[in-house]
Amino acid sequence: MIYLDNAATSWPKAPGVAEAMTAALGAGNPGRGAHDQALDAGRILLRVRTRAARLFGAAPERVILTHSATHGLNLAIAGLLNPGDHAITTDLEHNSVLRPLYAARARGVELTIVRSERGVISPDAVAAALRPSTRLVAIGHASNVLGTVQPIDAIAQLCVHQGIHLIVDAAQTAGLLPLDFTQTPLAALATGGHKSLLGPAGTGLLVLGDGVRPRPFEVGGTGEDTFNESMPAALPEALEAGTPNVPGLAGLAASLDVVLSAGGTHLARALTQARRLRDGLVASGRFWTPDVDADAWGVPVVSGLILDAAGQPLDVADVADALAQRGIAVRGGFHCAPLVHRRCGTEASGMVRFSPSHLTSHADVDTALAAVREIAGL
Ligand SMILES: Cc1ncc(COP(=O)(O)O)c(C=O)c1O
Repeated sequence: MIYLDNAATSWPKAPGVAEAMTAALGAGNPGRGAHDQALDAGRILLRVRTRAARLFGAAPERVILTHSATHGLNLAIAGLLNPGDHAITTDLEHNSVLRPLYAARARGVELTIVRSERGVISPDAVAAALRPSTRLVAIGHASNVLGTVQPIDAIAQLCVHQGIHLIVDAAQTAGLLPLDFTQTPLAALATGGHKSLLGPAGTGLLVLGDGVRPRPFEVGGTGEDTFNESMPAALPEALEAGTPNVPGLAGLAASLDVVLSAGGTHLARALTQARRLRDGLVASGRFWTPDVDADAWGVPVVSGLILDAAGQPLDVADVADALAQRGIAVRGGFHCAPLVHRRCGTEASGMVRFSPSHLTSHADVDTALAAVREIAGL
């Protein structure tokens, strides 16, 4: 199989992930006992926190273990907003940012959605949307449809000077692009563990900036402070109720080791192939792709429509199926990003998204390009 759907979830997972997960099936319940198995589980959680802390420049106790980017975003958004607050987001966001904000709006939060230009949100547009009641800005580091990277540093400076929380959805960039709390004043960063962090599904991280304390999203057992009717006061336990996904987290600890030692090389390799793929598609004359700011395109995602001889777009589901029949995995559809498609005029059609990884080869791209040409009737 030629796997070009890494923006949905990475495949294959990092070396060592499966073995670490299998071994962790023997681990116990962390924080719920003094026997070896419970202690082993606690060590697995600590391994994830220390590695994530290194990757993002944060304190280990401020790394909250979640089960997805969506979980972390819900926790941060619901836990920091109150009725009467104003929140800002953008038309580039995934539903994991938009839907928690729409739910907050239904509870009395005011919401402004800033419009992108050629796939980019300008800090000036965010500044223009600020109000005295603005409490939070939620923005994706990179668009999962357009591959454009947003000017997070400038937006963070804007927010920090006004005492506004900046929450970054790093689902498409964690493991590829750096984002460091010691350099960029973020309130929170959320990511899943299963995309470019190369870990298993069912894992995620919410990293909190100093002094940022969302209300718990879920409450329940933590293995400590049992007679307290509320969650324990200390992080990370205050935001982690219930038995965690210990085997998944063992896999994530192993994949974080691989990502940390790769030191940024994964992005360069994936982008080289994404660029070849995009250039080859454009050169075929049978590809339409939205006009985005070329300087902002910075993660390995290429989306668009395949055209027939008359220049009409082929159905994206048909194209994705035809590629799958040839052993090539891509994603056709709307990518859970409704406003991006509305902005690009693909609300009715969707797009076909190709997302290579650091493991994609020249030959993989050549085979995919030949398959697209054949499907387009060339
Ligand atoms: C930009 C973006 N944000 C959030 C998510 C949600 O990630 P998860 O499914 O891990 O919750 C995705 C996944 O597709 C994404 O691409």
